[in-house]
Order: sequence, then structure tokens, then C-alpha cells
Amino acid sequence: MILSAKHLTKTYIDSDQTIEVLKDASLDISAGELVCITGKSGCGKSTMLHIMGLLDEPDSGELEICSKLIHSNDPSAPEVRNRDLGFVFQFHYLIEDLSAIENVALPLLIAGNSESGARKRAKELLVLLGLQDRLNRYPNQLSGGEQQRVSLARALANEPKLVLADEPTGNLDPTHSNEVWEMIRKLNRELNQAFVVVTHDVEAAVKATRSFELLDGRLIQLEA
Ligand SMILES: Nc1ncnc2c1ncn2[C@@H]1O[C@H](COP(=O)(O)OP(=O)(O)O)[C@@H](O)[C@H]1O
Ligand SMILES: [Mg+2]
Repeated sequence: MILSAKHLTKTYIDSDQTIEVLKDASLDISAGELVCITGKSGCGKSTMLHIMGLLDEPDSGELEICSKLIHSNDPSAPEVRNRDLGFVFQFHYLIEDLSAIENVALPLLIAGNSESGARKRAKELLVLLGLQDRLNRYPNQLSGGEQQRVSLARALANEPKLVLADEPTGNLDPTHSNEVWEMIRKLNRELNQAFVVVTHDVEAAVKATRSFELLDGRLIQLEA
């Protein structure tokens, strides 16, 4: 099991109201799976993904990554986040002053790779994502779909066990959205890359190997 979330709860307390976002959310992800989590806006999808990515802490419940119990504030959490997890968000968060290849090379440099090694691997990933003609373009010279494909390449840089994607196509028109979904499926199929993709688009659920709806703080598996 790459990731196992058990009985997660999370409640937010605003000045005058308590919002029970997660009540008893459990999810197991095995190697090579493409799991989709759908649900209405505000139902807690991002909260769930942030907890799975060690970016937030649940109030109760347990999270295991690669069969090890872990908390977001453990000293080992940053290393697990960098080594085992990749992230893609709705907004690409690429660095505007860096070209596509430099954006993808950055996490490789941070992980200690040489400059030439990092560029080589970044180029391979961008080619894999069909961006061989865009290596030296800056984010503002790329379409929305291309920006998200660069974000995918960056998420894959350090060969994560699992990529967590929060509405990766939420900002795209249908054509570019399809383009990004096709890439996610290809990476899942050809590299056996595991993904959890969160989306409010219920039609996306059919693209997954398993899909869930986050409903009333619990994850309900949808029929295949
Ligand atoms: N830091 C926070 N403080 C208070 N309420 C929050 C916070 N983060 C999220 N919420 C609330 O929790 C609910 C779930 O949010 P979120 O996980 O972002 O939902 P989704 O991603 O499904 O749209 C929403 O009602 C949101 O307003
Ligand atoms: Mg969200």
C-alpha cells in the first residue's frame, strides 16, 4: 500500500460556526492506481488531499505512507513529501522567471542532482509530455494546458510513489482539460504512476481505475 488514510476527521471552527469537513474518511491507494475523488465544491476535497500530502494535519485518524505511520509535523515529513509525493494544483504555480525546463529541473536540483543531470531528466519528462518544442518557453508563453503539463512533469521529477492532483483541469477549457487527462492516463498506463486526482467534474470519474465521492465527510466508492 502506497498510502492508507484511516478514519480521518477534520473540523474547522470559524468565529460562530463549526464545519465538520471530514467525519470518517478512509482510503487505501495501491501502486499503479489512478484514483479519482469527486464531490461538490466545499465538500472537503482539498482538505482531504492536503492531509494525504502531509500539508495539513487531521484532528483524528491515521495516515500511513509506504506502510509507515506519519504526521505532517514529523521531522521526516518534508523528506517524505519531497521523495514520495508529487503535487499538481489547479493553478500551475510555475515560477514565471524560469523556463519550462528550468521549472522541471528545480526539484531535481533541490534533491541534490547535478545541473546537467537535472536538465537531462527534465528534458526527458517534457518530451514524454509532448512538450519537446516548448523546453525554453516561459510559463506566460504557454497555453493553460501546456502549463499544466509542465506542472505534471515537475510533479514527476523525483519519481514519486504517488502524485496528488487538486483540480488539475479546473482552470482549463474542455479541449485543454482532455489533453491533461490524456497525459495523466498515459503516465498511469505507461509508467505505472499512481495518482489521486480530486475534481468537482463528475464525468472525470470514469477515467479512473477507482473513483469515490466525498459525501458528508466520508468517501463512498462509486460503481465502476
Ligand atoms: N482554513 C480553513 N478555515 C476554515 N474553514 C475552512 C478552511 N479551509 C477550508 N474550510 C472550509 O471547509 C470546507 C471544505 O473546504 P475544501 O476542502 O477546500 O473543499 P473543496 O476542495 O471540496 O471545495 C469549506 O466549507 C471551506 O470553506
Ligand atoms: Mg478544493
